[in-house]
Amino acid sequence: MSPKSQWAWVLLSALLLALGSAAVSSRVLELSDRFIDVRHEGQWLVMFYAPWCGYCKKTEPIFALVAQALHATNVRVGRLDCTKYPAAAKEFKVRGYPTIMFIKGNMEFTYNGDRSRDELVDYALRMSGPPVQLVTRTESVDMLKGSHTIFFMFVGQQEGVVWDTYYAAAEGYQEHGFFYATGEDIAAQHFDFEKLPAVIVYKEEQHHFYPHGHLAHEMDPNEVNETIFQWVNVERFTLFPKVTRFNIHQLLKTNKYLVLAVVQEDKLNQIATHELEFRDMVEGVIRKHRPRYHGKFQFGWIGEPSIAHSIILDQLPTPHLIAINSSTQHHFIPDDDPLQMTPQALHLFLESIVNESAVAYGGDTYFVRLNRALFEVRRSLRDMWQGNPVLTTVIFGLPLGFLSLIMYSIFCGDCLVTEEDPEEDHEKKE
Ligand SMILES: *[C@@H]1O[C@H](CO)[C@@H](O)[C@H](O)[C@H]1NC(C)=O
Ligand SMILES: *[C@@H]1O[C@H](CO)[C@@H](O)[C@H](O)[C@H]1NC(C)=O
Ligand SMILES: *[C@@H]1O[C@H](CO)[C@@H](O)[C@H](O)[C@H]1NC(C)=O
Repeated sequence: MSPKSQWAWVLLSALLLALGSAAVSSRVLELSDRFIDVRHEGQWLVMFYAPWCGYCKKTEPIFALVAQALHATNVRVGRLDCTKYPAAAKEFKVRGYPTIMFIKGNMEFTYNGDRSRDELVDYALRMSGPPVQLVTRTESVDMLKGSHTIFFMFVGQQEGVVWDTYYAAAEGYQEHGFFYATGEDIAAQHFDFEKLPAVIVYKEEQHHFYPHGHLAHEMDPNEVNETIFQWVNVERFTLFPKVTRFNIHQLLKTNKYLVLAVVQEDKLNQIATHELEFRDMVEGVIRKHRPRYHGKFQFGWIGEPSIAHSIILDQLPTPHLIAINSSTQHHFIPDDDPLQMTPQALHLFLESIVNESAVAYGGDTYFVRLNRALFEVRRSLRDMWQGNPVLTTVIFGLPLGFLSLIMYSIFCGDCLVTEEDPEEDHEKKE
């Protein structure tokens, strides 16, 4: 050990002791109720968990990788057993397991994204910095292009209504996106803008502009505010993202039609060839026609059909296509067999949604919500049964068994007697 790493080790051990922790196998710090007292010191990414929770166990190795990746940053990564330390769980209003929070100063943010290493690391990095980070070297922009799928960039003097609104939007969306600012000289080597200030989103090796940047000084400030927030809200997604249980709620906030190619991914994230061809066909069409559909549609694909099932409240063969009106929750399904679907048929389907001639199903009515709840219960039971028939039988079978015994004894108090009676009669006759 070099003196430096020895020193670091002493510090780490001291910290662990201070937190009243047991031994840890990874860089994830084991926290206790005493965390309530030290939460204000520095920045924390904390997983609140319970030892019996399966999702927590699944997240554990990922969390260890996250701690590893954030090791050299100023974000400390810890976990807290809520069954052992209920006071801390109460302090942070933990409602489910696992709950992952970013904690800095008096503020705490609950993480709602995918529980993958990359997403969690990005999230912690975003949350640990200021809402807008200044870029002062041109190489830095190259690095950003290499490391982020999407980022926003403000170019120009950092003053005036566009800057103020950009900063406010960055604060509002800090959990969901990276926001930067730089001067004209550096930006000119990377983006082709004509007028300043410019607000740019960079994604998938292209950049797009907030359309009113240089005209904003002539506009009503409220309109500038509204249009920048809305623009950031819809531009923070790539053209064809993978949609999961976690990010679908964010995608629905775009107030566009959400159009999803549904395929079946196996445990190794493999997709059957014919399903892959369908997905690629959809992606090809929308990439080619981005300007035509970008205003009204957000696209994506699902690898876990059960997400689609809970939207349409029915089973759906894969591959398939569904479209959802994000404000009313109505959904649309093409008439054609998806495997026979041509790009032309896809255009017609999208058009029929926009001109409201397509048949809309579902919606956010009371009846649909009730149905949705029942559907989810049925599905969880089925999943449970498929996952572990024995356990399911024990959990639901035992109480049911007891219940039927109790019912039997209440309503059938003398069944035993009457059942025996005929036999006795028999015997008597014989
Ligand atoms: C700007 O718009 C956002 C989102 O609509 C809103 O939350 C915020 O209060 C607005 N700010 C101002 C200064 O109007
Ligand atoms: C959703 O449905 C409503 C009501 O029919 C409609 O006004 C709106 O334009 C539709 N589209 C989107 C993208 O919300
Ligand atoms: C809506 O669009 C579809 C597909 O392009 C077309 O067949 C239909 O006639 C249109 N309906 C209306 C009312 O414009």
